[in-house]
Amino acid sequence: MTLNLSPEESKDFLKRGFSRRNFGRIATMLTAGATLPFYNEPALAQLSKVKGTIPPDAVLINANENPMGPCPEAAEAMRNVIQKGGRYMYQLTDELAKTLAEVEGVKPDYVRPFAGSSAPLHQSVLAFCSPQKSYVAGDPGYEAGGRAAKFIGARAINVPLTKDYAHDVKAMAAADPSAGLIYLCNPNNPTGSLTSREDMEWLLANKPAGSILVVDEAYIHIADGASSMVDMAGKDKEIIILRTFSKLYGMAGLRAGAAIGRPDLLDKIMPYSAGALPVTAMVGATTSLKVKTLVAERRKIIKDIREDTLAFLDKNHIHYVPSVSNKFMVDVKRPGREVIDLMAKENVYIGRVWPSWPTYVRVTVGSREDMAKFKTAFLKVMA
Ligand SMILES: Cc1ncc(COP(=O)(O)O)c(C=O)c1O
Repeated sequence: MTLNLSPEESKDFLKRGFSRRNFGRIATMLTAGATLPFYNEPALAQLSKVKGTIPPDAVLINANENPMGPCPEAAEAMRNVIQKGGRYMYQLTDELAKTLAEVEGVKPDYVRPFAGSSAPLHQSVLAFCSPQKSYVAGDPGYEAGGRAAKFIGARAINVPLTKDYAHDVKAMAAADPSAGLIYLCNPNNPTGSLTSREDMEWLLANKPAGSILVVDEAYIHIADGASSMVDMAGKDKEIIILRTFSKLYGMAGLRAGAAIGRPDLLDKIMPYSAGALPVTAMVGATTSLKVKTLVAERRKIIKDIREDTLAFLDKNHIHYVPSVSNKFMVDVKRPGREVIDLMAKENVYIGRVWPSWPTYVRVTVGSREDMAKFKTAFLKVMA
């Protein structure tokens, strides 16, 4: 077993209520990285997939990806680093931590880079949940953490969103007095809706003792009016912020992300992974952060395409959940799965259905061309 836990950390693991069998299972899983039974967005998107392979010219608006890809400056920097890829170059990871810390106004040791944000999300669940300490999340919400919780034998509690599609922070705080981790995604995936700063601060102040708040800000750059909680991490609260370069920065396949929080909290999640991070992704992410106009530019592009698509839905009297993100939920008034399959026949692959909202499907905001094809196919399917 090459799990990166010290003997002390292993003992602590058993103290947290895991059986030796469970512990062995987690160790095996962590050392067999390629076969992790958890899911990230592309893996979850497969759940929406119709049988067979996706044609190369398909419209892919199923996994909240960014068709723009990395910005030209990042692409250039990544091309330049490839030839040096025979080296681990840990300094490039440090450089990303330093740059992101500067941008976010926290100290460099409050930032730990990862290959995307799935890893720190899963690792937070491993670190803070156990058979005695549950995982609490909004519903519909991003399911990856809940799946990780179930795998390790922790209870995963889903708390319905409010009628305004915000996280119901009061119900989340009350869900389980021995909660280990409360997960809040802002803006939320799949709804693209916001939870107010006031509510998040309330949750942070009133969550059960001994629990940690994880705020997943995967889509924060895309949303006008979203308030980051990163300053709370800088103020040493019991909070971890997750960031990714997969969304606005268009680097989903390149893999860069980060966890931001008090160093002692981050130290708890680090033993569940090991090894160097991809130099391409580290350089691409650092370079992207230095392009000062990028966030505003891309936010506007996505907003314009989203608003145009939502206006189309309005015009056709189709109900959807108002969104400030790069995806939205549409009520198709019949089992969502049927619409997903019919859309795939039109070569347009849309996202999935959440069990609690069976007639809603999630659609990612793609390029203008993607959305033009979406509109044509959707009208046909809905007719
Ligand atoms: C809310 C949320 N968190 C985390 C992730 C993980 O993405 P990645 O591992 O590419 O950073 C996703 C992916 O879609 C997501 O939607």
